[in-house]
Amino acid sequence: MQKKEHVSMSVIRRLPRYYRFLSELNRNGETRTSSKELSERMGLTASQIRQDFNCFGEFGQQGYGYHIPQLCIEIEKILGIDTKHPCILIGAGNLGRTLAGHMDFHALGFELIGVFDGNEALVGQNIRSHKILNYRNIQDFIRARQPEMAILCIPRAAADTIVRELYSFGVKTYWNFSHYDISMDYPDVVVENVHLNDSMMILSYKLSVTETAE
Ligand code: NAI
Repeated sequence: MQKKEHVSMSVIRRLPRYYRFLSELNRNGETRTSSKELSERMGLTASQIRQDFNCFGEFGQQGYGYHIPQLCIEIEKILGIDTKHPCILIGAGNLGRTLAGHMDFHALGFELIGVFDGNEALVGQNIRSHKILNYRNIQDFIRARQPEMAILCIPRAAADTIVRELYSFGVKTYWNFSHYDISMDYPDVVVENVHLNDSMMILSYKLSVTETAE
């Protein structure tokens, strides 16, 4: 597959949605689809879909459309979810427990290898197959197991100290729920910030606009 040199993040951000739709078709045993059919199901234009897929080379064939299982495999490769990056989770509170207990990390390109908390009362408790480990021992763990990514489920006030430590131990990739702006202090990190509040505010906006229009 011929990959273009630069693929915009807006295209990359649409790929998980394509993958979700295509995986469902795949699970239902469907093998062929077209940009027209996908556009009807997904509410995007057919030309947008063709343009997006063309960024990564020739996925489809004229007159045949797209082979769904192959397309799923190609998107997995592009997103890197066909590999298993070892990761750790810091903060086994409400949010951390939910993520460690319910996320299918394997399907998303990661393997959760350790869950840490600074509260000794939580250390030793289980979340699914994970025993909560003492954050005090994080450096030895990182040295031995070399996690590539850390999921931050700690309060904003604790985040700058924790990131300073993790960064100095070599962790340079973060899935960040802490509301602390990591890239301001560490421009070389790879980070995906998650703010559920933002999504809710957008929902509120959409609702307000609908109500005003009625
Ligand atoms: P929580 O209080 O239940 O859990 C936080 C955990 O972090 C606790 O178990 C605590 O012992 C641990 N912790 C605190 N300081 C630590 C340190 N220095 N070292 C190691 N462990 C430490 O809080 P919850 O509800 O799980 O939320 C966690 C954070 O995530 C909060 O700051 C909250 O604002 C944020 N959050 C963000 C969301 C988002 O969309 N980005 C959504 C929900 C929560």
